[in-house]
This record gives sequence, structure tokens and C-alpha cells, in this order.
Amino acid sequence: MGNEYVNIKFIGSYPSVKKMPATGLPEYAFIGRSNVGKSTLINYLSNRKSIAKTSKKPGKTQMINLFEVDNAWGMVDLPGYGYAATSKTTRRSWMKMIYEYLEKRENLANCFVLLDSRLPLQEVDRNFLLWLGQKQIPFSIIFTKTDVLSKNKTNANIAKIKRELEKDWEFLPETFAVSSLKKTGREAILQYIESINKMIK
Ligand code: GTP
Ligand code: MG
Repeated sequence: MGNEYVNIKFIGSYPSVKKMPATGLPEYAFIGRSNVGKSTLINYLSNRKSIAKTSKKPGKTQMINLFEVDNAWGMVDLPGYGYAATSKTTRRSWMKMIYEYLEKRENLANCFVLLDSRLPLQEVDRNFLLWLGQKQIPFSIIFTKTDVLSKNKTNANIAKIKRELEKDWEFLPETFAVSSLKKTGREAILQYIESINKMIK
């Protein structure tokens, strides 16, 4: 599949979807609460240490960051939602950025929503997923940080989140589990992206 190595280029940071270049390539967005591990996952998927900027503190990614992979598809690192410690105005402008990007980006192929595998389903995540459904934006779920708890606890918590989601959804979307730290889960996500790319072609 040639997934071992991907050739990634940083295209740019944009304050709004309107400022983004048209690439004509299928694009995959990574979204989730601040600090859930979006930027770290993008680095792991692309085998790069820090092409996407990461931080211990939430609120690191503040713009729409566009990357191009193998001259064939795009990855987008978005700011996180649900970060309480920033000002209301900032939070509002990040949400506007995220919502506008998701609603208006014509070449958006899929949105990966990252959920922390250690936590119960958060209200803000549940509502965000419902919004995606309402807008008919295709999405999948990635459970992050699976290295922190024991395997059993992680699996039990993921199962619990899924049961919660089944209260809202008749069918669950595709789900993945990753640890960017221990480097597990990459192949399944890249293969999934490749399969969508083929369908679009
Ligand atoms: P914002 O840009 O602030 O919205 O956050 P983000 O979702 O991009 O998170 P980021 O990738 O910056 O990671 C946040 C913190 O989580 C960092 O301290 C990472 O090292 C840590 N982290 C990310 N992925 C993993 C993982 O798989 N396992 C563990 N243990 N920590 C992780
Ligand atoms: Mg980030």
C-alpha cells in the first residue's frame, strides 16, 4: 500500500475557509476538543516529529492548517473546541472558523472526530457530532491516547462511549483507536483514507 512513508507538505495557515486555496484534492479534517491529540496524530500519520505544532497546554492550534500528502490528498488541523480557559470572543471565533470550514469546504471528504479514550462521552462532543449529522457532513471517530490506561480499561471505556453514542445514532460511523505516543493505529486510518480517495476518483 506504500503507507509506511507519506510525503507531506505544509501548505499554509488560514484564519478562515475563504482564505484557503482551492486544491481540488480530497481533504480530511481532524477535529475534537482542545488537547485531545489532533496535531500529534497528524504528525504520527505523516511520520514527522513536528510538522503540526503540538503543546501540553490546550489551545495550541488557532488557525486552519492545511497539509498536502503525496500530492494526492489534504489534511487539515483545526483548532479545538470546548477550551474553557480562553476568552469568550476567542472561543466564538474558533467555533466560527471550524463550522464555516466544515460547511463550506467543497473538497472536504471526511471529518475525523477525535475522542479521548479515557473519558466518558463529553456533552460538547455529543453535541458536535449531532451538528455534523444535521449538516450531513461525513465523519468517523478516532479514540485517542489509548496508551494511558490499561488495555482492558481503555476497551471498556471505548465500549461505554459507543453505547452512549448509540442513544443518538441508529448506526455508528467507522471508528478507530490510536496511540500517537506508542505509535499504534496508523495503518487502519491511512487505509481508510485511501479507500475513500479511490471512491472519489
Ligand atoms: P489543540 O491544538 O490545543 O486543540 O490540541 P490538540 O488536539 O492538537 O492536541 P496536541 O496534539 O497538541 O496534544 C496535546 C497533548 O496530548 C500533548 O501533550 C501531547 O503530547 C499529548 N498526546 C497526544 N497524543 C497522545 C497519545 O497518543 N498518548 C499520550 N499519552 N499523549 C498524547
Ligand atoms: Mg492542535
